[in-house]
Amino acid sequence: MSVAIASPEALYEKLKHIHVGNPLCEYTYERCIELFPIIEEISILKEEKNALILAHTYVHPDIVFGVADHVGDSYGLAKAARQTQASIILFPAVRFMAETAKLLNPDKLVLDPNPNGGCSLADSIDPDTVWRLRRQYPQHTFVCYINTTAAVKAACDVCVTSSNAHIILEKIPNDRIYFLPDRLLAENTKNRLLKRGITKEILSYPGSCYVHEEIQEEEIDLMRYRFPDVTVLAHPECPPEVVQKADVVGSTTEMHRYVVAHQHQRSPFFLLTECGVASRLQIDAPHAKLVGGCHLCKYMRSNSLQSILAALKQPKESDIITIEPQIQERARRCIERMFDYAE
Ligand code: 13P
Ligand code: SF4
Repeated sequence: MSVAIASPEALYEKLKHIHVGNPLCEYTYERCIELFPIIEEISILKEEKNALILAHTYVHPDIVFGVADHVGDSYGLAKAARQTQASIILFPAVRFMAETAKLLNPDKLVLDPNPNGGCSLADSIDPDTVWRLRRQYPQHTFVCYINTTAAVKAACDVCVTSSNAHIILEKIPNDRIYFLPDRLLAENTKNRLLKRGITKEILSYPGSCYVHEEIQEEEIDLMRYRFPDVTVLAHPECPPEVVQKADVVGSTTEMHRYVVAHQHQRSPFFLLTECGVASRLQIDAPHAKLVGGCHLCKYMRSNSLQSILAALKQPKESDIITIEPQIQERARRCIERMFDYAE
């Protein structure tokens, strides 16, 4: 839960620690003076309307530290959405996350303030393709990454996130899995299971995340040359050669937790994921030494305090999440099966 920010000074005291190599993630005192009235207005409206703000770690730090009630990975946010008593859920992240919240809360108003809430994974596959693949592979259990539209979830058996894909794929009582749409997460999960002696057939669809697929193993080699004792943390959407060289592999929340817990170690941390994890850690783990550059997700970064305020004040039709009635039940079952396996 975020602590209410009382003044522009308090906002600057928090955000001035962020230096992740991108001007969009840096905060001057002047910028905090400009942002503070918007944060204040959002906080008042949130209270008045009994709204909950769920933010993914990749959105701008002014959202994460200024107005969010819960910040996390896609699994933690789905869980928070499932448990809330709030009347309105406002979800600065990407569209598929807000859709998941709506599927879990069909009677609540769920708002997506992002004018560009795509995701290269969610946009890579449509339900017709899934149904065609199901006819082609009738013996396989169809597992989708949570980074898919509600319509794609409705065509699949169970969904997974980066934090539980390995647990769920192991538990599914079928040795034949079709995993979509992230071929890199599929391969990394297959390798993780292989290490534990589990040899399932895991076919995959050729989708990938445009941010993580560009990360190269040479970045790890160069960083280890400069800092031989560096701890490398990678998201499982990275290519397998990167994941194999990393010391810690996990979801954004798992990476965040690891660094918070080990922040007093003398050696540095190198995070192979979107910059949001590093900027959050510069505040939550002030003793950690972080090295390396910055990768921004253009979709997550399209969220802004201004669009959150506008959606809370008077949501546009495009801010309001609606799910076609004919797919709601199947899509919800696909998500609920994830909770059954993971909890
Ligand atoms: P997490 O669930 O690990 O936060 O991942 C979501 C995502 O979109 C990563 O690119
Ligand atoms: Fe999608 Fe990649 Fe952005 Fe995550 S980082 S929301 S997978 S495009």
